[in-house]
Amino acid sequence: MSQNQFDKKAQAWSALFSEPMSDLVKRYTASVFFDKRLWQADVAGSLAHAAMLAAQNIISQDDLAAIQRGMTQIRAEIESGRFEWKLDLEDVHLNIEARLTELVGIAGKRLHTGRSRNDQVATDVRLWLRGEIDLITNLLIELQRALVDVADKHTETILPGFTHLQVAQPLSFGHHLLAYVEMFARDAARMGDVRQRVNVLPLGAAALAGTSYPLDRAQVAVALGMVDSQGQPQICQNSLDAVSDRDFAIEFSAAAALLMVHISRLSEELVLWMSQQFGFVKIADRFTTGSSIMPQKKNPDVAELARGKSGRVVGHLMGLITLMKGQPLAYNKDNQEDKEPLFDTVDTLKDTLRIFAEMIGGQLNPATGLKEGGITVNTQAMRQAAFKGYATATDLADYLVKKGLPFRDAHETVAHAVKTAVERGVDLSELPLDVLQQFNASIGADVFEVISLQGSLNARNTLGGTAPAQVRLQIARHRARMD
Ligand code: ARG
Repeated sequence: MSQNQFDKKAQAWSALFSEPMSDLVKRYTASVFFDKRLWQADVAGSLAHAAMLAAQNIISQDDLAAIQRGMTQIRAEIESGRFEWKLDLEDVHLNIEARLTELVGIAGKRLHTGRSRNDQVATDVRLWLRGEIDLITNLLIELQRALVDVADKHTETILPGFTHLQVAQPLSFGHHLLAYVEMFARDAARMGDVRQRVNVLPLGAAALAGTSYPLDRAQVAVALGMVDSQGQPQICQNSLDAVSDRDFAIEFSAAAALLMVHISRLSEELVLWMSQQFGFVKIADRFTTGSSIMPQKKNPDVAELARGKSGRVVGHLMGLITLMKGQPLAYNKDNQEDKEPLFDTVDTLKDTLRIFAEMIGGQLNPATGLKEGGITVNTQAMRQAAFKGYATATDLADYLVKKGLPFRDAHETVAHAVKTAVERGVDLSELPLDVLQQFNASIGADVFEVISLQGSLNARNTLGGTAPAQVRLQIARHRARMD
């Protein structure tokens, strides 16, 4: 075999090349061992493209039928694990196309008419990501439902609310959990927003400038479900932009990073709450691990790992956005580096959301139709912690304001009362009336209702406040929104 015939079969562009790639360079440039994950999108994109080529009389109906037949077989081969992925064929696109030609001959070679791997890969990534966004959005709803269900059981459960991790004011535990529901609802909305810009068709842009074949891009867009809510085809309107920008992937990663940051906040609270010092909640044993040396330990590994994994997802965002920076138009091979961070982001999100929904809400028992094994709440420990920290001091100040004191003076008066309570080792509500009256004569017996934990909670009955009545309204709103 002559030098320049080295492996024509294996390389789509080989005629021009006079020496083979070294194994190291092959391995360095190949993406097949990770981008084979795009195979379903690649097959779907090719079938839509082929059907359009036939409808436009660019290829024959016989060619189309052969391509469809070949793709059916390829699907079966990949699904059963029989498909042989070859490093020499670089990526998912060339592997599938080469196999197609092996199976159906010349029709396979016609598939790539009016197309480039540049618009092909951009289409594949968008199709794949669209599907993953839908899965992630559903998992986000599962997690929100789990949180809402636990919140519903604990509208009246009181725990201390913190600022600066110092006891601040009493809260309903349900209200506390609903704060995370708000965050995850916004995360889901961001995913939905990103989806609209992901779901736009690059095919037809070809390598960078469009193509001389009379393609019907709208037909391909419709076939691939790249349509808006009115069913209008969504098509990239500039060929250079279509093949080169990965801003949709960056946007997705940004939404993913925020979502993981929210998860990390919840994780941190779970870790604190599970500690002996707080003792607020327990999670099921299957989400904890023991220590190899300290027999008494149950560690909140899942929550800690999720907190840690937020780092890698934020890191992927940095990777992707830096990858795009300074790239001249149009396609550059740099973009092949978009896949691994995206794949890992998606995997991390899906696993984390699944685990959290179950860890918090439990698992459905089909026999009872009820969920079991979610977090266990120690309402007594929560109440005691709220009781300890003078959480109703603000309520006493507000009480004095209603009696006519300016707020600043009331604040100062209560500080003295708290000091006395600290010295005596009791809560404000445990100081006798005559002692309280030494701080301000207008204090009456009705103060005890006001400075009780329950009284404090019930008083915060404004929209978005922690009063159980408000929490119940919010639970109803969230349920209506998600049904
Ligand atoms: N594997 C490549 C990627 O992921 C496909 C596009 C290659 N295009 C090219 N002209 N080399 O981006």
